[in-house]
Amino acid sequence: MALNTTNPTGTEAWKNLQNHYNATHTTTIQELFQQDNARVEKFNLQWNDFLIDYSKNNISQETVSLLLELAHSIGLKEAISQYFEGAIINQTENRAVLHTALRAPESAVIKVEGENVIPEVYEVKNKIKQFTHEVISGERKGFTGKAFTDVVNIGIGGSDLGPVMAVEALQYYKNHLNLHFVSNVDGDHVNEVIKKLNPETTLFLIVSKTFTTQETLSNSETIKEWFLKSASQEDIAKHFVAVSTNIQKVTEFGINPDNVFPMWDWVGGRFSLWSAVGLSISLAIGFDNYNELLKGANEMDEHFKTTAFDKNIPVILALLSIWYNNFFGAESEALIPYTQYLQKLAPYLQQATMESNGKSVGRDGKPVNYQTGTIIWGEPGTNSQHAFFQLIHQGTKLIPTDFIGFVQPLYGNNDHHDKLMSNFFAQTEALMNGKTAAQVQSEFDKQGLSAEKAAYLLPFKVFTGNKPTNTILIQKLTPKTLGSLIVLYEHKIFVQGIIWNIFSYDQWGVELGKQLANSILDEINSTTVKNHDSSTSFLLNHFLKNK
Ligand code: F6P
Repeated sequence: MALNTTNPTGTEAWKNLQNHYNATHTTTIQELFQQDNARVEKFNLQWNDFLIDYSKNNISQETVSLLLELAHSIGLKEAISQYFEGAIINQTENRAVLHTALRAPESAVIKVEGENVIPEVYEVKNKIKQFTHEVISGERKGFTGKAFTDVVNIGIGGSDLGPVMAVEALQYYKNHLNLHFVSNVDGDHVNEVIKKLNPETTLFLIVSKTFTTQETLSNSETIKEWFLKSASQEDIAKHFVAVSTNIQKVTEFGINPDNVFPMWDWVGGRFSLWSAVGLSISLAIGFDNYNELLKGANEMDEHFKTTAFDKNIPVILALLSIWYNNFFGAESEALIPYTQYLQKLAPYLQQATMESNGKSVGRDGKPVNYQTGTIIWGEPGTNSQHAFFQLIHQGTKLIPTDFIGFVQPLYGNNDHHDKLMSNFFAQTEALMNGKTAAQVQSEFDKQGLSAEKAAYLLPFKVFTGNKPTNTILIQKLTPKTLGSLIVLYEHKIFVQGIIWNIFSYDQWGVELGKQLANSILDEINSTTVKNHDSSTSFLLNHFLKNK
């Protein structure tokens, strides 16, 4: 069954939300706390090792009820069943969307075109387990009989961002293998990586769902060429493995079919880290830890699938985001993890969120008449406090922000961790409460500032506050909690796509640039600039003349 095509703005629930916004949006979050200082009791969710405090938002219970009514009237419940049961919800590509099957237990039965996919999923998982063991233990060796010390993941987009983010995030759990990632077609990138490597002890993972991606194929060819300077053609079988759906192209590249880890077209690139695309993660932290990541993911799947919407973390966070995006006109959301380990979470979620929900045509094929896809950005705190927090605190834009922090640090260094977390708590409080003119004045009085100087400085030192935040406080960064955290955002994306009546699992918008780049490459190679607008011709001619 196809997803419904309800335009959300035509629902009674949307109209009610619009009226509610008109009537309440000038009430500040500070005022909401003054009216009910126990509101956190209503607006928090606790699940496994997660505590979500969403009380510092511009919402009342009525807001939440109206948002939940919107979710119900759009048919979210039915859509969730379609999603998990393998319905063709990626309709423009005629595919199911089943990355959730990759972390389901072995006893699950999930069918695509009448076939249970779980046995195949576990076959690949066992292959990952075996391969991981052989590489980490040193049983699997390179062409001169030495064990592997380095692993290079060659891939881009979903074939890079998830693995690079998770390997970075879980480096505390890492073994002796050194992981490297090559993604950009920029030759300087691949050369910087190659120069640190010894071909005798390096394993290459070519990760490309389609095995047609220009960046990945160019980097793979360059690396193969470099490798063949010290090794022979037959040695490729020992040093190169591939993760792909395109077995024919992989074989043409020279990879031994035994070294191919298959994936399926029902796994979208940006949600593929749970498939063999995550091989580099398994190699970096060992299969047991990798499996814990999948376990945490599956637990969040179960939470999302079975929990009533008012207690459902992805649903609540998605609805809050819609509240700000569609009623308050917020243009972006920030994501600030208070751990350096999660420094690549924002780039990862940029692809997941913006490639999924950056759409302007509804599921009915008509242009939408409302805002969709949120812009996601962020950096770890406290670094971000010293970079862009000024704008969040005192700028003109409304930027709802998720703060992600951990109760326990990994190295047990409590002095640092207490300092880190004091910033974490201080920021959400400061963003909400701000600082009034009276408070600023009283500080000036204490400092003995002259009346003239105080009057001049006062407006610059006032913080209006009323900046919404969600606090996601997790016990500890482990493979399992990371799995749950990623999936929380995956399902938030799903809920928003359903409500916005768009197709979240295709990405036609990345095609045009790729097509044009190919034809421009032909022009560069033949040094003949064809018909373009005057700006593009001018630039191409300059490039050709000066290269
Ligand atoms: O840029 C679009 C895209 O198709 C992404 O969705 C995908 O993650 C990436 O390219 C890489 O694709 P592939 O794994 O097929 O090389």
